[in-house]
Amino acid sequence: MKDSKFLRALNLKSNAIPPVWFMRQAGRYLPEYQEIRKNYSNFLDMCKQPKICAELALQPIDRYGLDASILFSDILTIPDAFNLGLSFHEGEGPKFSNPISSAEDINRLDSFDVNALGYVFKAVEETKSLLPKDLPLIGFCGSPWTLAAYSIEGKGSKDFNKTKSFMKDHPAELQKFLEILSQACFEYLRQQVLSGVNAIQIFDSWADLLSKSDLEIYSLQYTRKLSQLLKADPVTENIPIILFEKAPKKEVVDLIFDGLACMSLHWQENIEKISFKLKSKYAIQGNLDPRILVESDDLIWSETQKICAIMSEYPGFIFNLGHGITPDIKPEKVKVMIDAIRA
Ligand code: CP3
Repeated sequence: MKDSKFLRALNLKSNAIPPVWFMRQAGRYLPEYQEIRKNYSNFLDMCKQPKICAELALQPIDRYGLDASILFSDILTIPDAFNLGLSFHEGEGPKFSNPISSAEDINRLDSFDVNALGYVFKAVEETKSLLPKDLPLIGFCGSPWTLAAYSIEGKGSKDFNKTKSFMKDHPAELQKFLEILSQACFEYLRQQVLSGVNAIQIFDSWADLLSKSDLEIYSLQYTRKLSQLLKADPVTENIPIILFEKAPKKEVVDLIFDGLACMSLHWQENIEKISFKLKSKYAIQGNLDPRILVESDDLIWSETQKICAIMSEYPGFIFNLGHGITPDIKPEKVKVMIDAIRA
């Protein structure tokens, strides 16, 4: 892994050309993904096939020669392992048949058995066996808050009203649930590392549901706890941790903490301003607006180069989008962006 530009950046070393990978780099925008996806009615069944996951993780690497690979799985495997009954059917988002709907549901929760997620750890091993030697593999989990929000809401939602009411009515039980999820995330990531991942990303995709003070109480507190558990364990202590917060109500400087290697910036953040504040302490990943990818090649090219120019003197810069690639994007557009980075 000595020659990995991605790992160099996470260690705050400079690279003449920034490393690049994308959130949701494997997914529905790729025809080769669709080709495999059509064989499964429930997306989760596909996630339970380690060899298929490895093949899917390799697709964007083979197509674009990216600098990091990400495990092909989903953040919702943990709630599924608590027997909340996850499925993903055509044209719907995730759905839980047995969501958390009362305080008693939390008290009655099954204990977490990391071995129930053995299919994920096998996928890590399979992916590592296919990847080029110097190409790192990113493991991941959802933040405890984001996992709790899906588990309570029972599905994706615009406003997560059920979750917000639950938070108001049962704050103590919610905190208990977040504790349980933090411990589960720790065991899950530890096992991913034992299976071969080289870095970890924590997705707090529903940070934007929380007010400034609630963000600390229900999300950051637990993400920090998770990171502390990782940093205190000899298996995971040296694995760099990347944090993605979607549109948080707090300033990025108020989100970072000791033990974090890198902040993955949402596209609404001002990368230049933040770079002055984080320089020499944290790597930065980001943060082109993914909607740029529906625009002209010229615009994609210039917006990509703008970010690269701003960050050219920043040791520890990793090019990424400010959120995931969406299914409507043409794969050729992604190639334009990569060419602009490497030009
Ligand atoms: O390259 C990769 O990033 C693939 C691995 C990956 C997936 N999901 C595969 C996936 C990763 C890292 C995730 C993370 C994930 N999953 C997040 C955090 C990132 C973010 O976008 O904020 C979240 C919130 C989820 C939950 C989730 N999974 C939803 C809401 C959905 C349905 C809507 C959607 O975006 O497709 C999924 C399904 C999912 N996860 C797909 C893929 C490729 C599409 C499934 C399909 O083909 O039907």
